[in-house]
Amino acid sequence: MQQVEWLAAWVPDEGATRGRELFSRTFDGESDGVWSAPGRVNVIGEHTDYNAGLCLPTALPHRTYVALRRRADDMVKLASAQTDEQWTASLADVAPGAVSGWGAYVAGVAWALREAGYPVGGFEATVDSCVPFGASLSSSAALECATAAALDATFELGLMDSVDGRRVLIAACIRAENEIAGAATGGLDHAAALLCQPGHALALDFRPGLPPDEFAQLTPFDLAAAGLTLLVIDSRAPHQLVDGQYAARRASCEQAAELLGVSSLREVPIDGLLTASEVLFDAVPNEAEAKLLCRRMRHVVTEIARTAEFIALVRTGLGSDGVPNEAAVTRAGELMNASHDSLRDDYEVTVRETDLAVEASRAAGAIGARMTGGGFGGSTIALVRAGEVDAVAAAVHAAFVDAGLTAPGFLLAPPSAAAF
Ligand code: GLA
Repeated sequence: MQQVEWLAAWVPDEGATRGRELFSRTFDGESDGVWSAPGRVNVIGEHTDYNAGLCLPTALPHRTYVALRRRADDMVKLASAQTDEQWTASLADVAPGAVSGWGAYVAGVAWALREAGYPVGGFEATVDSCVPFGASLSSSAALECATAAALDATFELGLMDSVDGRRVLIAACIRAENEIAGAATGGLDHAAALLCQPGHALALDFRPGLPPDEFAQLTPFDLAAAGLTLLVIDSRAPHQLVDGQYAARRASCEQAAELLGVSSLREVPIDGLLTASEVLFDAVPNEAEAKLLCRRMRHVVTEIARTAEFIALVRTGLGSDGVPNEAAVTRAGELMNASHDSLRDDYEVTVRETDLAVEASRAAGAIGARMTGGGFGGSTIALVRAGEVDAVAAAVHAAFVDAGLTAPGFLLAPPSAAAF
């Protein structure tokens, strides 16, 4: 039988060397440097960022490397180890709806920084990455945030030096993704790629206008000390209708909030769900539509509550000296399981492959398992006792083979560093 496939991360030195070499093979001479940013997993708090809610991501050790050299004009010239398609445009021509292709993620960051008043000009850059692509592990945010770090250094913006400055870069990357690349994502991925730290999870609160120390709080998340491992499973399910479905979920949330007269679903307390559902049923004459809005709302409101409880558990500590705090770990697993079930039944963003990966992980002894990221394919995560990682991976692999599905890829995800 085919072996379990582990998707290894490059150590940063290897990524930097690859970046430098690709640059000098592609363009004449040396780059000004190599910058990188990680993919992420979201431990819990899914589809909450655009509802002013809570999320808890960690950075993957898998990173995207951008080697970049400043130019004296406004041209952007790009090449990538992942595609033969080179990308060239003048920054003057970059605008919403005006550019397409993978280079839009890179040039969009320069555009957004210029829009925010920062003196960014043209550049040549090459991209290389070990973040699995299209696996809900934020390969696009990794590319945007590595570009942001590179432009910050080469155009001497100084934004990487403080959390406030990094929030400017996060906002620029979000604009690049929303307005230039045309994907209506929230802020989770970029905040993770620019603010996470090794050994920590990042507790994010997306209520508008919060000061930096309330928006993003680094929380020690030393799973190894608790005798645990976070196993990531790339289900390799093909993404389908991703943009349309994601945008539809956002639209339902906005519609529900509007009908309830609140600025976001964050304002609906968990014990107010019943009353809020009654309001939606009164406001929406079509019963099927009303039911759908209620299910979407219930996911968001319960997910925010689960995330708050999970963050509290992590703050108290999941264990030490290799010994788990059993009560806390069991509860953390239950919250992860409930998150997945809610994403499957109420939010309807899971697919056969991600449901199978989760079920097989649980059956093989995972403490908790859930999909991570936007859904509609992509990856799942499993909280596993350190000694059981290989057994859980083998069981998930076998379940996919038995079902006649493409074998998944497996990643280890010790909480890693943000962009540098
Ligand atoms: C995608 C988006 C994020 C977030 C997640 C769901 O990853 O890019 O902004 O909405 O989906 O939690």
